[in-house]
Amino acid sequence: MIPKGCSERPFDASILGRPVWCLDDVAQAENAVNGARQESVGLMFRRGDASEGAILDPLGFRKIETLITLGCAISDQKQRLPAGIGIAQTTDADAIADLAARAFRSDRWHRDPEIPDDRADAYKAAWAHNDVLGRAGVTLVTLNAAGVITGFNALLFRDDTLVVDLIAVAPDHQGQGHGSRLVTAAIAYGAGRFKTLQVGTQVANPASIRLYQKHGLQEIGRADTWHWTPS
Ligand SMILES: CC(C)(COP(=O)(O)OP(=O)(O)OC[C@H]1O[C@@H](n2cnc3c(N)ncnc32)[C@H](O)[C@@H]1OP(=O)(O)O)[C@@H](O)C(=O)NCCC(=O)NCCS
Repeated sequence: MIPKGCSERPFDASILGRPVWCLDDVAQAENAVNGARQESVGLMFRRGDASEGAILDPLGFRKIETLITLGCAISDQKQRLPAGIGIAQTTDADAIADLAARAFRSDRWHRDPEIPDDRADAYKAAWAHNDVLGRAGVTLVTLNAAGVITGFNALLFRDDTLVVDLIAVAPDHQGQGHGSRLVTAAIAYGAGRFKTLQVGTQVANPASIRLYQKHGLQEIGRADTWHWTPS
């Protein structure tokens, strides 16, 4: 049974191979830990204000990341996508999932030493796969001369906000301007359709923070993430 103040995360659990819970109400943290032990939960996470560490740390939660949300306004004038940018098709899902499995290192699953890297890779791969198959409103891609996908930017449509859900460039193509083109492309795609562009990233990912700041996105929020895993 799931205790009060918690909710299940079935997608996460399917990748981890054990139940995954989100602690929705920090005031229920102690009951939640007791429940998690009884139900053999593999991971419980909480995202909230830094001050919650005073409650969570003594219960065995570990602070994993600080998430920064950045945003910017986008033009109401329609724009063309930049050259070299394509729109992913469902047939690209496997290639994009493979790229995602190789690219991400700063997200909370990869940063938690209690989560095996192969699970963290599989998590990003499955997430990207779902995005291309329709979870994202659109997935923009960069392509090399041979038409091979070198980077992707999966975007969610949230009312008048276009949200970067996942963005990555293949490790052997990073530092060559692809990430920059993918952000420019998102701004162009959103122009005339959405009012703002929003993205979340980690303090521990300076490359992505600089990338977004370079394109005019500014910090609009900050939250910490804690993990509890069974000892
Ligand atoms: C973040 C990421 C998408 C950037 O893509 P990229 O193609 O390597 O970036 P670009 O070559 O277009 O660089 C664009 C800007 O990003 C910043 N940047 C990129 N790599 C950087 C690094 N290693 N250190 C610091 N800044 C960096 C710079 O501001 C750079 O502009 P500049 O060269 O004019 O200074 C890429 O590093 C990546 O896929 N990382 C792994 C996945 C990930 O962490 N995604 C972000 C999750 S929110």
